[in-house]
Amino acid sequence: MTFTVAVDGPAAAGKGTISRALAAQFGLAHLDTGLLYRAVGAKGGDPIVAARTLTTEDLQRDDLRSMAASEAASKVAVIPEVRAALLDFQRAFAAREGGAVLDGRDIGTVICPDAPVKLFITASPEVRAHRRWLEVGGNEAEVLADVIARDERDRNRADAPLKPAADAVIIDTSALDTEAAIARAIATVNAIRAT
Ligand code: CDP
Repeated sequence: MTFTVAVDGPAAAGKGTISRALAAQFGLAHLDTGLLYRAVGAKGGDPIVAARTLTTEDLQRDDLRSMAASEAASKVAVIPEVRAALLDFQRAFAAREGGAVLDGRDIGTVICPDAPVKLFITASPEVRAHRRWLEVGGNEAEVLADVIARDERDRNRADAPLKPAADAVIIDTSALDTEAAIARAIATVNAIRAT
């Protein structure tokens, strides 16, 4: 059976943590689609060529979580040909036997508009920047500026902008700890599966 869970939301909202927990809970495969854009940005050269020739080794670089890679990812992510080149891989992953969780920005709106479960995970920019700063260190004000700049670019691009699908369930994690956010997501999946 294929069962797709689409998890979208802005930077550092907790999509990854929630998606990994849902994958473990329901026995689904997980794809962090942000990694595809990070790898394209990190590869350098022409981003369209990089997207069309992306390999699994490109996804295994150990510098993909850096702030520089985040910034580069959101810049190449505005290019329609880059997004188009990554579409089939994501759709094939979503359709795999046994089901899948995909997290990103446009999973519920563009990649898997028919996914039975769509979650939109969000939190205030300050809370998200603080969480990301705990992971990457450095200067917290700079991390906040990066988060705000990426949000802006992700929301305002013409192709596949960041926004909740009309039928997405919105989970604001600003006042939730990790356990509570995961519990809310699991309860949402169970409720939709029961219908
Ligand atoms: O973990 P974080 O939310 O900071 O970033 P990410 O999910 O790894 O995504 C990095 C960047 O890739 C985002 O800022 C987006 O510009 C882009 N992206 C996208 O456009 N579409 C996706 N499905 C996933 C990521």
